[in-house]
Amino acid sequence: MKARAPLLGQVSKAHGKTVWFTATDAFADWAREAAPNVHGLWTAPGVFSADAPDPGSAALLAALPEKLGAQVADLGAGWGGLGAGLLTRDGIRTLHMVEADHAAFECARRNVTDPRVQFHWADATTWTPPELLDAVVMNPPFHQGRRADPSLGQAFITAARKMLKPSGQLWLVANRHLPYETTLAAQFRNSDEIAGDSRFKILHGSRPNR
Ligand SMILES: C[S@@+](CC[C@H](N)C(=O)[O-])C[C@H]1O[C@@H](n2cnc3c(N)ncnc32)[C@H](O)[C@@H]1O
Repeated sequence: MKARAPLLGQVSKAHGKTVWFTATDAFADWAREAAPNVHGLWTAPGVFSADAPDPGSAALLAALPEKLGAQVADLGAGWGGLGAGLLTRDGIRTLHMVEADHAAFECARRNVTDPRVQFHWADATTWTPPELLDAVVMNPPFHQGRRADPSLGQAFITAARKMLKPSGQLWLVANRHLPYETTLAAQFRNSDEIAGDSRFKILHGSRPNR
């Protein structure tokens, strides 16, 4: 990198090194652009589950009821795998796909062309829907850094509760070990595990607390 541009500083930590430099096109030929994977779905380096649909999201789709309501959101929509599955169901009039990572967001826009979708490049923990929702469906993020960190997923659950109508419902998939039940029980009057196996659990919340 030094051979291509003057580096202004560096930090070494955890077997990695971060450097910074004044914005330049000197590394443009290093970029690996988004491209279709072997399944023909657009993904990009570093986006979640770039090589194939996530098995957790597939388990969530398999466990959902046929009807979810008209106004639905997918928080942390990634490249769109879960959202595309939701759109095969009856009754959805609007699906809000909310994603913070711009590379994943751009892939979702290529993969999901259904006119019922509204795309939001936004932080799901602060995004507010234009009207209260019938359902939130999500496979929330569980890494902030190298370790699993449940606080972001817990923030997603709290954010989802605020987006829902009084009759609205939350459906989410999580790795079995992630501690989401206490947050779910604090945010929803009814909460339970509706499906799962040794790897994943599918959690459901209804009657959101006001
Ligand atoms: C476990 S992945 C699920 C992706 C997709 N829904 C799927 O099932 O394949 C979680 C996604 O949440 C996104 N994410 C992380 N933090 C976020 C935030 N604060 N707001 C919105 N999306 C976020 C990540 O970029 C990632 O795409």
